[in-house]
Amino acid sequence: MHEITAHDDLSIDKAEFYARLGGDVEAILTGERDWIANTANCAAILFHALREINWAGFYFLQGEELVLGPFQGKPACVRIALGRGVCGAAGAQKRTQVVPVVHEFPGHIACDSASKSEIVLPLLSGDRLVGVLDIDSPILNRFDEADAAGLQAIVDCLLGASDLPV
Ligand code: SME
Repeated sequence: MHEITAHDDLSIDKAEFYARLGGDVEAILTGERDWIANTANCAAILFHALREINWAGFYFLQGEELVLGPFQGKPACVRIALGRGVCGAAGAQKRTQVVPVVHEFPGHIACDSASKSEIVLPLLSGDRLVGVLDIDSPILNRFDEADAAGLQAIVDCLLGASDLPV
């Protein structure tokens, strides 16, 4: 199995870290187009590679709801209406949400009380919302625009390498 970029390598900046992590993701997705398998492996890579996070995973759009998909971390709420919480906002607006303090986000849904900051990226196939990638951190202000850009490249790789649900 492919080695994952070390989460505790503090000698490299975020852009370099995500460039290497993107290589890990690309390697693990090569030769496999199954959506569930690929999102499951992506959740595992992100959970083990990123520092100071307590949850990483996917919600998939079903009708007007986001439904829990592959993840790593504590059990989470299963259904989130579009527009609700951070995940619902990212899905409804089709825009990445970087939330430095989750308790200040209107309607934030607390799945794990340890979570203090969060980033959610929409999964888009063209203009069609497929789901969201959600990552939670137990520290405040964990995510910034460099995380958003690095994770966007990983999401793009995942979407391009997989057969998406119809
Ligand atoms: N906090 C999210 C809910 C999902 S859990 O964090 C896994 C939200 O407000 O949408």
